[in-house]
Order: sequence, then structure tokens, then C-alpha cells
Amino acid sequence: MSTESKVLPSLDTEKQKEYMRRVFSLNAQYKNEHQKSLRVFVLTLGCQQNEADSERLMGMALEMGYEKTDTPDDASLIIVNTCAIREHAEKRALSLVGQYKHIKAKNPELVIVVCGCMVVQEHRVDDIKRRYPYVDIILGPSLIHKLPEHIYNRRSGSRRIFDPDDKIYSFAEGLPIHRESSYKAWVSVMYGCNNFCSYCIVPYVRGRERSRRREDVVAEFSKLVALGYKDITLLGQNVNSYGVDSGFDYDFADLLAELDSIEGDYIIHFMTSHPKNASKKLIDVMASSKHVARHFHLPMQSGSDSVLKAMNRRYDFEKYIGILDYIREKMPDCTVSSDIIVGFPTESDSDFEDTMRALERARFDMIFSFQYSPRKGTPAASMEQIPQSVKQARFERMLELQNSISLECNKKAEGKTLRVLCEGESKNDPEKFYGRTEGGKIVFFAPCNENIGKFVNVEIERGDTFALYGKIV
Ligand code: SAH
Ligand code: SF4
Ligand code: F3S
Repeated sequence: MSTESKVLPSLDTEKQKEYMRRVFSLNAQYKNEHQKSLRVFVLTLGCQQNEADSERLMGMALEMGYEKTDTPDDASLIIVNTCAIREHAEKRALSLVGQYKHIKAKNPELVIVVCGCMVVQEHRVDDIKRRYPYVDIILGPSLIHKLPEHIYNRRSGSRRIFDPDDKIYSFAEGLPIHRESSYKAWVSVMYGCNNFCSYCIVPYVRGRERSRRREDVVAEFSKLVALGYKDITLLGQNVNSYGVDSGFDYDFADLLAELDSIEGDYIIHFMTSHPKNASKKLIDVMASSKHVARHFHLPMQSGSDSVLKAMNRRYDFEKYIGILDYIREKMPDCTVSSDIIVGFPTESDSDFEDTMRALERARFDMIFSFQYSPRKGTPAASMEQIPQSVKQARFERMLELQNSISLECNKKAEGKTLRVLCEGESKNDPEKFYGRTEGGKIVFFAPCNENIGKFVNVEIERGDTFALYGKIV
């Protein structure tokens, strides 16, 4: 197969479908000729976007005739979907890829694909070319629809294939999706990011914002509701700018209102919202909705105006807290979570104290906190860095404060009855089942197999820092 199909026009669904039919039929032919049992192992690092991409990668692999396996050892195709958000994520990806060397040595026909955000960066492509010669294919996140074509070519004797980035940022509609869960699902509404926060690698690796058409999102969503999915999360790096890039005459709040009007027993989550354009309209739609979960994830990143400026976040603390107050005014029972970075290059002791005060004021139910990790090519990486020991000390102080706030929030749930989506047996305690509230809090309760994937009402008996405990009523 030649590269004639190298760029799929983003929204030309018919051409795309025709292309997919051709590649899948070539792969089926290959499978018939070789009469082999083929197995695929997919490993995912990073955020929900990557999890959603992995479900598409798995969907395509199954369509090509592979069967799913849960161990890399007996796989004929290994796909590692990488993340580049912090150094730790990249180290993990490289160490995992390193471990596959011996599997390839035993089975030279194994095809190893490394895709995801890490491999868009030139220095990582070079690394893999030189230090991991047994990796067959590199594939960037905006090109995942080319997996079948590349695998076919590689199996037919092509040289190693490096396809990290098309600089056009196409995306493909209608790819087969193998959903990991039968009751929780992801629906991407947009791809990429235009914000260029000064610490963040995402805009460089995921490209510019592009939104899926409303009718495509609505069709996918309705199908999931009809199939009985209970918890559907709309995904984008900044869902609040949905449609802006494509000049749509409707925005995210309009989309959310339309999805909410679909009949069924389900809840909708969305992430992530950027505070710079979290609108009152969106909060109003949420407050009057039937299905949108009472949960707002609104990354604050820092409580210091000067750090926020250096981060290029384009809001100050006053604006942030104004949005938060409006959310709570409209939805007093809404769970609010946030992301915080400590140790950003310009963060002084007093900036950090601003963040501590901001946490006291905001009283988030939970936060995801990170120590700043320099990312090559981003503006903040070339600023003067904060010593690791200072970052660590600030990080620990912040966690201690937040833990006390989370505990206080969770104590308030005691005695209440909450709707919980039951997910199954707890990993650490087989005597217990767990589920999540609309606000994403983990709840433990007595085992009840018949309720997996269903909503149950749980009376909360105890609230801890990281979880709630109760009984089904
Ligand atoms: N689009 C989302 C965030 C996606 S990345 C948003 O803007 O809110 C998830 C989180 O990772 C970010 O919110 C940020 O807190 C953190 N993060 C991103 N780059 C980082 C870096 N270089 N070091 C440490 N944390 C980082
Ligand atoms: Fe990164 Fe900022 Fe875009 Fe979020 S909004 S993905 S933090 S650049
Ligand atoms: Fe990581 Fe890419 Fe997500 S860098 S956090 S997998 S968008």
C-alpha cells in the first residue's frame, strides 16, 4: 500500500470510511494468507484523552483480526500509548518499552508500536530510533487512524516507520472503538489545545484545537445512552472553547444542553474546563440540567496572580474565585476539584503562601497536585528553576492542608444518601465493593454483584480524607 492516503481530510467522513475499508480488507487478506492467531496488547499512560485513543487503537486492531490479550508476553502486536506531561511519565514509557526488548528477541515477528504524546517530540523520536531499534512504528496522536496502514506495510516488509506528526492535525471520524467498560464511556468533543500555558507540552504534541461536529458527537452519545451506558465523559483539553476553532455557531453550553435533553438513565461529566472561558451560560445549563453531574473540575494551577501571569493562564485569582462562587451559588451541592502546580520557576515563598490561602478560600473537595516538571521546548523550561528540596517541602505542606480540607468536605457527607455508580470489587479489600458519586468521590460498601454498572443509593456512614464509607439503602 502506498502513502497516497497519507492525510485524511478531517471531516470528510465518506473518504475516510472508504480508506478504512480498504486497509481493513488488506489486513484481513494478510491474516488469511498467514493463518496465524494474532494477539494485541495495548498499554496506556497519561490522561483520559489517551485512554480514549487507546480504545480506538484497540478497536482498529480487533478489526484487523487481532484478539485482545492482557499480557505483553504472548502478544503479536504491542502498542504503548505514551504521555509527555511530566518527566516521570516519559521515564515510565521508556522503561516499559525497554522491557519489551526481550519479548521481541523471542518473537521477531512481534510488531511494537509506540504512539501518544511523547513521540511527537523530535528528541524522543531520535532516542527511539537509536536506542530502541526493535520498535517498529512511531505514530503521533493526531495520526492514530494510520495504525492499520502502517502495520500492514511493516508486516509486508517495509522499513521501520516514523510518523509522529502531520503538522495538519487531521482527525478521523468513525474509527472502530473497543470500549473497556460497558457502563462508563469517553466521548471526545475536541482535540488539541491553543492555550500554550508556559509550563505545558500539550499544545506542542496534540496540535491546534479542532472540534468534532455537533451531529457526530450527538450520534455517538445517543448510541451510548441507547446501549445503557451510565456515565459518559465529554473530553477535550479545554471544552469551554469547543467550536471556536471551527467557527461553529454553537458553543459547549449549547452542546451540553442538547445532550442533556436525550432521554435515559445516565450522567454526563466533562473535562477539562479552562477558567479563562468558563461561562455563566455553561454553569446555568449545568444547574438546570437533568443529567449533568454536579461536579466541576476547574484547574486553578496557582493562587498567586504573578505566577498565573507567568504561567500564561490569562485569569487572576479574583476571576477564578468569582467563577467558583457562581458555581456554588447555582449548585450548592456541587463537588469541585482542581489541579495545582507547585514549584513553578518564578514561584517565591510569598507566591506559595498565596496558593495556600487560595486553597483555604476555595475549599476544593479534592485536588490533583503536581511538582513542576520542566518540559523541553516550553517557555518555563528555560526560566530559572526552583531547587527540588524547596518544591518537595512546598508540595508536602500543600498536601497536608488540602488533606484537612478534603476530610472536612467528606465529613459533611456523613448521614447523607448519595447516588453512586457501583463499579465492583475493591482492589485492596475483597470484602468491599466500591463506586463513585456524581462528584467523583470513591465510596466503599458491602459486596453486591448484581449492582455492578448500576446506580445505587448509599447512605454515608463515615467520611475519610480520600473516601466515603456507607451502606446501600
Ligand atoms: N487542559 C487541562 C490540563 C491538562 S494537563 C487544563 O488546562 O486544565 C493536567 C494537569 O497537569 C494540568 O492541569 C497541570 O496541573 C499539570 N501539568 C501540566 N504540565 C505540567 C508540568 N510541566 N509540570 C507539572 N504539572 C504539569
Ligand atoms: Fe496545557 Fe494549558 Fe492547554 Fe491545559 S490549557 S492542555 S494546561 S496548555
Ligand atoms: Fe499526557 Fe498527552 Fe494527556 S501529554 S496528559 S497523554 S494530552
